[in-house]
Amino acid sequence: MPQNKLNILHYPVQSWVANASAVIQNAIEECLLVNSVCNVMLTGGVTAKKIYQEWAIAKSLPLERIHFFFGDERCISPDDQNSNFFMVMSSLFSGGIIEVGSISRMEGELPDRALAASRYENLLPNHIDVLILGLGLDGHIASLFPGHSALEEELKLVVSVSQVGVMYDRISITPRLISQARKVFLLATGAEKGKVLAKALSPGCSNRDLPVCLTLDGTWLLDNEAYSQLLINK
Ligand code: 6PG
Repeated sequence: MPQNKLNILHYPVQSWVANASAVIQNAIEECLLVNSVCNVMLTGGVTAKKIYQEWAIAKSLPLERIHFFFGDERCISPDDQNSNFFMVMSSLFSGGIIEVGSISRMEGELPDRALAASRYENLLPNHIDVLILGLGLDGHIASLFPGHSALEEELKLVVSVSQVGVMYDRISITPRLISQARKVFLLATGAEKGKVLAKALSPGCSNRDLPVCLTLDGTWLLDNEAYSQLLINK
């Protein structure tokens, strides 16, 4: 994966949330300069939750012109506090759903996971304008875990994922959807995630070993603790 397009932005720990949320909001607003709506795909995770809470407080996102989608979901009820949908509703939409373009939820609760994945794929727009991804310490993004066959999927945009050692079955976007997204933002804070990213920058890194390598032509939004790990052994 070429690293020539990788854009790394880094900020002090204390101001990371404010800066990262502003960068992504700016991308959404740029999209809306030339489009009537912006298709934004959200991630789960506590890192992203901080961004969503910042947006909820600022109340400055043009929600009525944004169509929200999810990059992955756990196969549990949307009412379960461990679902990404629940997390987004309780952070970004903690003040209630007012004037939002649309929110398209992955039906993780369906017993037939493959059906849930295909139903979600069928409601996706032609492309995602802004894709937000978090980073797991094993290098996963969305629910694309190292070594999983979903990383080899070349046709589908959404698949079901079961992984030994991973809590819950999942529904997840595939590398093909990530490659088609107009703008990809990876959120990563802390030294441990910085060490994972340093590996992703090393020669010979493969998507299969470190799925975060799928974001090497996107924008990494790092705090300085994560960023400092990229400078070691540079
Ligand atoms: C999920 C997310 C997952 C998450 C990373 C980072 O369903 O958990 O989609 O990809 O973004 O695991 O999570 P943290 O921000 O909590 O470390």
